[in-house]
Amino acid sequence: MAAITPKVPISFLLHHLIFLLFLLPHQQNILTLAAAAPGKWNLLLSNIGVSAMHMQLLNTDRVVIFDLTDFGPSNISLANNKCRNNPNDLTLKIDCTAHSVEYDVASNSIRPLTVQTNVWCSSGAAMPDGSLLQTGGFNDGFRNARIYRPCNDNSCDWQEFNTVLTQGRWYATNHILPDGRQIIIGGRGQFNYEFYPKRNGADQSFNLPFLAQTNDPRIENNLYPFVFLNVDGNLFIFANNRGILFDYVNGVVVKNYPTIPGGDPRSYPSSGSAVLLPLRNLQGGANITSEFLVCGGAPKGSFTTRVMGDMVLLPNGNVLIINGASAGTSGWELGRNPVLAPVIYRPNNPVGQRFETQRSSSIPRMYHSTAVLLRDGRVLVSGSNAHAYYNFTGVLFPTDLTMEAFSPDYLDPRFARVRPIITSPASRSRIGYGQQLNINFIIREKINRDLITVTMVSPPFTTHSFSMNQRLLVLTNGTSSNVTQLGRSNYRVRVMTPGSGILVPSGYYLLFVVYRDIPSQGIWVQIK
Ligand SMILES: *[C@@H]1O[C@H](CO)[C@@H](O)[C@H](O)[C@H]1NC(C)=O
Ligand SMILES: *[C@@H]1O[C@H](CO)[C@@H](O)[C@H](O)[C@H]1NC(C)=O
Ligand SMILES: *[C@@H]1O[C@H](CO)[C@@H](O)[C@H](O)[C@H]1NC(C)=O
Ligand SMILES: *[C@@H]1O[C@H](CO)[C@@H](O)[C@H](O)[C@H]1NC(C)=O
Ligand SMILES: *[C@@H]1O[C@H](CO)[C@@H](O)[C@H](O)[C@H]1NC(C)=O
Repeated sequence: MAAITPKVPISFLLHHLIFLLFLLPHQQNILTLAAAAPGKWNLLLSNIGVSAMHMQLLNTDRVVIFDLTDFGPSNISLANNKCRNNPNDLTLKIDCTAHSVEYDVASNSIRPLTVQTNVWCSSGAAMPDGSLLQTGGFNDGFRNARIYRPCNDNSCDWQEFNTVLTQGRWYATNHILPDGRQIIIGGRGQFNYEFYPKRNGADQSFNLPFLAQTNDPRIENNLYPFVFLNVDGNLFIFANNRGILFDYVNGVVVKNYPTIPGGDPRSYPSSGSAVLLPLRNLQGGANITSEFLVCGGAPKGSFTTRVMGDMVLLPNGNVLIINGASAGTSGWELGRNPVLAPVIYRPNNPVGQRFETQRSSSIPRMYHSTAVLLRDGRVLVSGSNAHAYYNFTGVLFPTDLTMEAFSPDYLDPRFARVRPIITSPASRSRIGYGQQLNINFIIREKINRDLITVTMVSPPFTTHSFSMNQRLLVLTNGTSSNVTQLGRSNYRVRVMTPGSGILVPSGYYLLFVVYRDIPSQGIWVQIK
């Protein structure tokens, strides 16, 4: 394992002002622009039965989706005419409907799953073996953990572990750690963190005064903190309007970063979003730098900025900002003016030329909507429910059960001839740390070998406009690429896998070969 002792020049790129230029005040403008804007929308399913408040892509190319259990009956029955009999349910004690479903990308179909206790506004992340660990929720689910082990034969369902967390975790954030455990940070009224699985079954929670310092008790605007594992092994934690670098092993704040210019909150309920921008120069030792991008948010008083946008890292290293509204905040009935047009942010373009407006959807994706990247490069979009129940009529933004896919322009058929096709390794291969990896691929057209890029992307857990555990690594790009031509259309690119679990915690990642910004379909690799 290569030792990495980086200096850590973290800069916040605050593009909320530039971003305002893309908020179009009139519906008419949106439509005019949409005609010329890139990208494509497809309605995949008109009714998935639940509203997609939380989503996680699994290494089976299936997506686990759930909302919450105390919503009353959903629109999908539990399998085999089962009913959930839960005296603690706040709305419906005998509930024969499902509040979690599994979406199978290949067959474009849904099947119901069973969560026993309330998973409302909870958190999660994939584990090294590819299972989803979900923690917390509300009411009887407050201190529970649940595991979903992916399967290909429709046999898997949630496994639930009661009262295993030290604290109740509602609106907390999870992140996977290099040792395979997860850290669970904050939650309503919780100015502390804990780990799961527990060591020896029993480690406690630890105070994090930063969460008390950033908490405005009137609006609790530091929930779902933005958490990223930094390249030096510390955690970058952002809540409300500022960030810290945190040594979670010793419980020490290593660095305080200045308040965001203007000082307005960026985390829930003023929900902006954040990503760790692509990590590059992975062999650069102390020269690896990390940059965090925070977009949107809502001023304390009058609300004029994009809120509840989801930020999705695309295989070519660009950032898609999708869903949300241009007025109001997160919370029941509080959002207004849906932003129907996604935006692509290109971190490598000159300042001023980084944002590009995409084609609009016709479906508002307000509070409790989500977006995740699929292996084929599309972005799955679903959810939107600003109400305390399933309300389909008589409300401003009815509960939405549709599922759409947004296809960035790179999926356009006109790029078919330059789209790489990975032929080996096989999907779901295991790879090690700091090793040479040969990737064979086909491109049908004569190519410029200097323009081959290889990226590796984690499948994050997405809820409330934040994708926990989202990271993208650029394994090679540009003239440094070591590409050999093997045959007429066959090539091999040799890369070094990342050197440590600090850069990429063990687990399943999507690996893409990208040519001139056009990604292949991904393959799953498990790094161990
Ligand atoms: C779902 O909604 C449809 C259309 O309103 C209805 O016919 C169906 O019975 C509902 N299913 C369940 C399980 O609620
Ligand atoms: C780090 O950057 C410095 C200055 O640009 C350069 O001299 C050095 O070779 C780099 N180190 C590595 C390991 O790339
Ligand atoms: C690779 O480099 C090219 C040229 O500098 C740049 O346009 C592209 O965005 C880079 N790709 C990634 C994934 O960083
Ligand atoms: C939503 O539906 C519930 C249950 O049917 C109802 O009690 C509630 O008033 C509705 N909410 C709104 C905002 O109409
Ligand atoms: C590229 O790989 C070949 C072996 O396949 C090796 O001989 C060569 O040194 C590599 N070049 C670079 C720039 O890494």
